[in-house]
Amino acid sequence: MAAIAGVHLGRRHVDETVERLSSVSARRVIEPEVDLPGQLGGGRLIADDLLSVAGLDFGLTDEQRALLSREEVAAIADEGTRFEAVLTAGFSLQIAQSADLTDPRITYLLHELGEETRHSRLFISLLATIKPTARNPFERGLLGFLKRRVVHDLILGRPALMDVLVLAGEEIPDLIQKRMAEHPETDPYLREVNRYHRQEEARHLAFARTVLPELLATAPRRERFLVRHAAPLLIEIMFDSLVHPDVYRSVGLPGWRTWWTVKRSPQRLALRHEATAPVLAAVTAAGGFGHRRRPTRRWRVLVGQGPQ
Ligand SMILES: [Fe+2]
Ligand SMILES: [Fe+2]
Repeated sequence: MAAIAGVHLGRRHVDETVERLSSVSARRVIEPEVDLPGQLGGGRLIADDLLSVAGLDFGLTDEQRALLSREEVAAIADEGTRFEAVLTAGFSLQIAQSADLTDPRITYLLHELGEETRHSRLFISLLATIKPTARNPFERGLLGFLKRRVVHDLILGRPALMDVLVLAGEEIPDLIQKRMAEHPETDPYLREVNRYHRQEEARHLAFARTVLPELLATAPRRERFLVRHAAPLLIEIMFDSLVHPDVYRSVGLPGWRTWWTVKRSPQRLALRHEATAPVLAAVTAAGGFGHRRRPTRRWRVLVGQGPQ
C-alpha cells in the first residue's frame, strides 16, 4: 500500500511540474519569422576552436576553414531538423495512443511539438541562407536505409527509449550551441538563434527528465534492455553524424578518413563526454540501471568513464 501511495504521490508531483512547464510555454510563444529578424552573414560563422577539426592539423587555409564553418553549421541545422521531425512523429504516436487525452503530459507534448516546428522552420531558413553543398551519407543508400529501419522498428512506439534519445538529442546540441552563443567570434545572428533555441530546449530537457522515471518503470523488459544496451550506441552515432563525412569533402579533405580522425580526436571525445554525461546521470537517477545504479559498459564508454 505504501508503495502504491508513493507512486501516486510521484505521479502528482510529475503532473504539477508538467503543468508548470506548459504554462511557461503558453506565455512565451516566439515566432522566429517575427521575433528573430535578420540573417546569417556571408563569411565565417564560428571560430576555429569551435570547428569539429579543432586541435587537428589538416593544413586548411583561412578560406577553407571559413567554408567549413558554414558547412558544419548547416550540417547541424539539417540534422537538428530531422531529429525534431522524428521527435514529432514519436510524440504524435504517443498522443494518438494515449488512454487519457486530458493527461497534462499530452498538453505539454503539444506545446513541445509547437515549439519544435518553429525551431525547424528557423533551422531550414539557415539552410536556405547557407546553401550547403555537402550531402549527408547517413541519409542515403545503405546507411539511410538502416537509419530509417532503426527509427521505425526500434525507436518509434517505445516512449522510454525515445525519451532517453530525446534527452541526448537535446543535451548534445545544447552544449554545442552554448559554446557558439558564448564565443565572441560567432556570427551575431547565429548567436541569437542559439540563445533562443537553448531557452526553449531547457524546458524540453526538464520535461524529458521529469517523465523518465515513470516511463522506465512502466516500460516492458525488452525496452529497458534497449535503454541499457542500445541507447548509448545510438547516442554515439547521433553525436558523430552531426558533422558527417561529406562536410569534410566539401572543403577538399578525404571524407570518411577525416571523419574517423575527428571522431577519435581528444577535443571531440571531450565534447562527447561532456554532452552525454547529463544523459547518463538522468538515466541512472530515473532507475535505468536498477538499485545498483551501475551503468553498463557501453554507457560508461559513451561518457568517458570506461575503456575507449
Ligand atoms: Fe528544438
Ligand atoms: Fe526540443
